[in-house]
Amino acid sequence: MTEVAGVRLREMTGDDVPAVMTLERTLFPLDAWSEDMLRAELAEPARYYLVAESGDALVGYAGLWSGPPEGDVQTIAVAEQVWGRGVGGALLTELLLQAERRGVTHMFLEVRSDNPRAQRLYERFGFVQVGVRRGYYKGADAFVMRRVAGEGSHE
Ligand SMILES: CC(C)(COP(=O)(O)OP(=O)(O)OC[C@H]1O[C@@H](n2cnc3c(N)ncnc32)[C@H](O)[C@@H]1OP(=O)(O)O)[C@@H](O)C(=O)NCCC(=O)NCCS
Repeated sequence: MTEVAGVRLREMTGDDVPAVMTLERTLFPLDAWSEDMLRAELAEPARYYLVAESGDALVGYAGLWSGPPEGDVQTIAVAEQVWGRGVGGALLTELLLQAERRGVTHMFLEVRSDNPRAQRLYERFGFVQVGVRRGYYKGADAFVMRRVAGEGSHE
């Protein structure tokens, strides 16, 4: 367990799924995952999911797929009440550390073209846009971003 930005980070378990789904439906109203999708992700060995807790409350989560040398940020989300306090950055830092431990050198992600807040977070961590997937999301394109270990900025 890691304590950073006033929250505790630990691996997600099946017991966290109801609280994660509540956040998921609030934060991704247009394209929320289903509970079955999340449980299937947790069961996959190539995945690693984290939660952030403040007191008893689950305030964020993030997920990694790793297939060294490539990895993917599957998701990252923080409860709106605590945005701007570094929780997203803490989750991403831990995800990148876990990816590095698994031998990932090239991290990828997709982000909605109309989500500048998330794009800024990723850019701060050295992700750069490498492509666009037209109509990937409901009502928006996806920007494909990549971060190569040893290149760009670090936090
Ligand atoms: C995108 C998201 C994960 C960011 O989470 P967050 O916890 O707000 O992220 P951080 O606090 O680490 O960073 C956000 C901003 O706060 C600033 N910040 C972080 N800690 C700070 C602190 N202690 N004091 C002041 N500012 C701070 C950061 O510099 C950053 O600034 P920026 O807007 O210029 O980039 C969150 O907004 C979210 O869940 N959005 C909805 C879901 C979503 O879009 N997920 C991404 C899908 S691809």
